[in-house]
Amino acid sequence: MNEVTPSVEVRELTKLFGDFTAVDRISFAVRRGEIFGFLGPNGAGKTTTIKMLCGLLLPSSGWGRVAGHDIVLEPEQIRARIGYMSQRFSLYPDLTVEENLDFYGTIYGLEDRRMEERKEFILRMAGLIGRERVLTSALAGGWKQRLALGCAIIHQPDILFLDEPTAGVDPGSRREFWELICQLSEQGVTVFVTTHYMDEAEHCDRLAFIHQGRLVALGEPQELKSREMKGNLLELDCGDAVRALDLVAGIEGVSDAALFANTLHLVVDDFKETGPKIREAVGERGIAVHSLKPIPPSLEDIFVSLIG
Ligand SMILES: Nc1ncnc2c1ncn2[C@@H]1O[C@H](COP(=O)(O)OP(=O)(O)OP(=O)(O)O)[C@@H](O)[C@H]1O
Ligand SMILES: [Mg+2]
Repeated sequence: MNEVTPSVEVRELTKLFGDFTAVDRISFAVRRGEIFGFLGPNGAGKTTTIKMLCGLLLPSSGWGRVAGHDIVLEPEQIRARIGYMSQRFSLYPDLTVEENLDFYGTIYGLEDRRMEERKEFILRMAGLIGRERVLTSALAGGWKQRLALGCAIIHQPDILFLDEPTAGVDPGSRREFWELICQLSEQGVTVFVTTHYMDEAEHCDRLAFIHQGRLVALGEPQELKSREMKGNLLELDCGDAVRALDLVAGIEGVSDAALFANTLHLVVDDFKETGPKIREAVGERGIAVHSLKPIPPSLEDIFVSLIG
């Protein structure tokens, strides 16, 4: 693989389970060192795609290459070059931190000096120095997750697949985890990551949105925000957003309405025309309208807009 060979490339990649299409003819390429965010609602096909890319699941049709190797013909070569942190990551709770690293290192054939070097690097990177002999089950969520990342990169892979690595972890640990991901990417590691957190998606170089197995958008976060919003986005700050949601959703000219914290985000075709109708409908029911104004879309808005 040279500098220009994509780390990951898929063309019309498809997976059927019986007559159900879990992944539907997706095509994209990921550059070396890129942080590629793979986003989509539950059941969109993210894990299924990752499993095909890691050589764990055969595609039904289409093709893919990872680190320059064919996912169907050369899964062994791929496995040596990738790290994979699965959705329910698999540390051994009854092993210590160090024993987990030893275990994964051994699987990847590390020995002696190399093993010691890599363990040292990972303990330092994950902030686990001094905790080598702690039982993994006794580690708090953030440490556990950094150890799982460490085990996934013990053999210094070129490409890292992370399937919802931060699900259920506190915000501070999530931030620290993303700092590690950014460091790895700066060192040239390609990171293919799924997440449901839109603040994390902002850290990605590019994003792919997948919905019902189909790729519905692909681009840089900023590019997606300016391109994928269908209509104008308004923020409605009012006395009772939950009750207002039902009222505004039915108004002609409002194509989308969703609750965001204590406000509503509405998509309208024409602010001048629809704005007064919204104020009127909400005000009529005795709900105070504090403000109604156009706002720039966030990734969360794009997500809602894309998946409807
Ligand atoms: N082995 C299987 N047999 C049958 N259906 C499956 C199998 N694995 C996954 N599916 C179905 O394929 C679809 C995609 O699943 P997948 O796990 O890839 O989604 P996901 O995007 O990772 O979702 P989540 O965000 O919940 O992890 C789902 O409808 C799922 O039920
Ligand atoms: Mg999944």
